[in-house]
Amino acid sequence: MELHTPQAGDDAVPDVDVVDLLMRQHGDIRNLFDEVEAAEGDARQEAFRRLVRLLAVHETAEEEVVHPFVRRSVAGGEDVVEDRLAEERSAKETLSALDGLDTDDPKFLPQLLALRTAVQEHARAEERYEFIHIRRSADAGALASLAKGVKAAEAMAPTRPHPGVESAGANVALGPVAALMDRTRDAVRAAMGRD
Ligand SMILES: [Fe+2]
Ligand SMILES: [Fe+2]
Repeated sequence: MELHTPQAGDDAVPDVDVVDLLMRQHGDIRNLFDEVEAAEGDARQEAFRRLVRLLAVHETAEEEVVHPFVRRSVAGGEDVVEDRLAEERSAKETLSALDGLDTDDPKFLPQLLALRTAVQEHARAEERYEFIHIRRSADAGALASLAKGVKAAEAMAPTRPHPGVESAGANVALGPVAALMDRTRDAVRAAMGRD
């Protein structure tokens, strides 16, 4: 079977493979970093909000869906997951430092770049040490059931602007992101038939 490398916004990718979905989200995250860097003023603020939401939702889905599977089903999975969780914690610290800054602050872009580097190294490690093994260890049914959880999470974070909806929340600080993570966790668990 020929492997299809998913691209951000590639709607031809079927939503039945959790690895395809997560790879697409990694692409969406990369594109949003580009968008934040290129934008200025309110547009930068708005794009940054979308990036924060997507990161929150993506990492929550991985914590609920990917890491537990890797712990259970991949040889050496416990250690792999501990390393990923440490990376996620340090990315979250960089993120909260960044969130305290105005997006037009001269310190914003260097901090954003630090976050981008951390997030991309983390994503590469996931792809190398988790996703490949998930593909090997999970049958089509398992891939689809994991995908259901990730889809439910994704619905909580639109990657494209929704005029009138996003702008109302554009100035909301990280506080609600914790609430978003809670809601995402509930949605993922409900979609996967857990409580
Ligand atoms: Fe992650
Ligand atoms: Fe990831």
